[in-house]
Amino acid sequence: MKIAFCSDHGGFELKTKLIGFVEEMGHEVYDFGCYSEASVDYPDFAFPMAEAVARGEYERGIAVCGTGIGVSICCNKVKGIRCALCGDVLSAELTRRHNDSNVLAMGGRIIGPETAKAITKAWLSTPFDGGRHEDRIGKISAYEEAH
Ligand code: RB5
Repeated sequence: MKIAFCSDHGGFELKTKLIGFVEEMGHEVYDFGCYSEASVDYPDFAFPMAEAVARGEYERGIAVCGTGIGVSICCNKVKGIRCALCGDVLSAELTRRHNDSNVLAMGGRIIGPETAKAITKAWLSTPFDGGRHEDRIGKISAYEEAH
């Protein structure tokens, strides 16, 4: 898969570890920044990454900030993005199966790298269940179209 990454300074260290992990899994990665631990504003990186995923240039996106909350708020404002903030593996599996989430958000100051890798692996490898969940996602898309 082609996977887009982004972070702010609070997520930079974890993002860097996850990029190596995801590349080792055989995926193609692009990093929308930031590129150091210097203080930045997470919307400057989350919006461009989410828009590229929404345009279909990347199949999935992974966003990391200190808590994961700021980047998830930004990503979910982009039409077509369903961003899930996850701190455990079960949520990562279920958000793929039920929400067909296309962006994963995590908090670099909240979870450790091994937990984040397990979440990422589960999220990347779990398919969407479809069925009744299609109708629910359809309602989200209809809302986006109407507003
Ligand atoms: C940056 O200090 C911090 O506010 C940011 O990484 C994130 O946690 C915001 O939601």
